[in-house]
Amino acid sequence: METVMISREIRLASRPKGIPNASNFLLAQSEVRPPQDQQALVRNLYMSVDPYMRGRMNEGKSYVPSFELGEVLEGGAVGEVIESRSTEFQPGDIVTSNYGWREYFVAAPKDLHAVPRELQPLSVHLGALGMTGMTAWAALHLVEVKAGDVIYISGAAGAVGNVAGQLAKLRGCRVIGSAGSVEKVRFLREECGFDVAFNYKLGPVVDQLKIAAPDGIDVYFDNVGGETLEAALAVLRVHGRIIACGGISSYNAEKPQPGPANLFNVITKRLTMKGLIVRDWMDRRDEFEKEVGGYFQAGKLKNKETVVDGIDRAVDAFIGLFDGKNIGKMIVKLG
Ligand SMILES: NC(=O)c1ccc[n+]([C@@H]2O[C@H](COP(=O)([O-])OP(=O)(O)OC[C@H]3O[C@@H](n4cnc5c(N)ncnc54)[C@H](OP(=O)(O)O)[C@@H]3O)[C@@H](O)[C@H]2O)c1
Repeated sequence: METVMISREIRLASRPKGIPNASNFLLAQSEVRPPQDQQALVRNLYMSVDPYMRGRMNEGKSYVPSFELGEVLEGGAVGEVIESRSTEFQPGDIVTSNYGWREYFVAAPKDLHAVPRELQPLSVHLGALGMTGMTAWAALHLVEVKAGDVIYISGAAGAVGNVAGQLAKLRGCRVIGSAGSVEKVRFLREECGFDVAFNYKLGPVVDQLKIAAPDGIDVYFDNVGGETLEAALAVLRVHGRIIACGGISSYNAEKPQPGPANLFNVITKRLTMKGLIVRDWMDRRDEFEKEVGGYFQAGKLKNKETVVDGIDRAVDAFIGLFDGKNIGKMIVKLG
């Protein structure tokens, strides 16, 4: 008789309006059948919650499909193979996948990515050496960030932002960051080596940015949009570059938000603004893992994370992203 495993999982119960709340989600159980030929059974150890998932909870077309109502959510996870009927994976192998928000799953090798067990904590493969770290790395390539550039990073104490700042320092930039608490500002200055960091909640961003960068900035790394993008447009130098990475200030908005009132700066200062989707860079994953993995192993790059324990707290962890509850990568520990 085949053994059927029981896996807890989080499903989308209803589409959030505004900021998501617990009633939009359902903690349920499902049966996981043993792996068939060319499949592996994986037990998740850590899963990722990310701001982009909020967009997938809405109906309508975007660059990734919407989550289906009543179905288990998806997202990054790192797990251990516990049974394999594929020659590509053995029990004990550590893999990343997009089968997060659940405890166990069965998948084909093409949907699993092997990562070294030696790099600890294993959750680093969701943070500095995972999707968010790769976003930071790709973004610096996208606008060719180089030594001497003055770069301003918003959402700087989050998963993407803190790695972006550390990589920019390694490239020889002057790095300015903004984040939403005293503790985060301290983290940026003292642990990540930012030259200047400020709390965007303590006064208009444009005023604080002008003090931080009296001669202007060359690059703006936008994780936030809204007022922060407007401030950066005011402070960018001629031929400045903008990395359009995220716009978390409007992810829960119930109606379209106005664009920056000073967009005309793009013309007068001959600015370049480039959009980034990290998935487009997957063919360069080996290069990223080699370079950034090397910095991590050499102790030149910190992997900061905020860890929440248990799948039953995954929804709180996700909602917490919009409340600034995380320093570094928000991780949910499973098992
Ligand atoms: N383009 C891509 O391929 C790609 C890939 C990954 C991520 N992203 C984007 O990059 C950004 C950062 O993602 P992440 O994974 O690193 O998340 P994160 O920064 O680790 O977490 C979200 C942070 O955003 C800040 N925040 C929340 N609401 C805000 C608001 N209204 N205004 C300003 N800041 C706010 C909070 O920090 P504070 O306490 O500082 O407010 C919170 O900790 C997001 O916009 C995300 O969508 C894009």
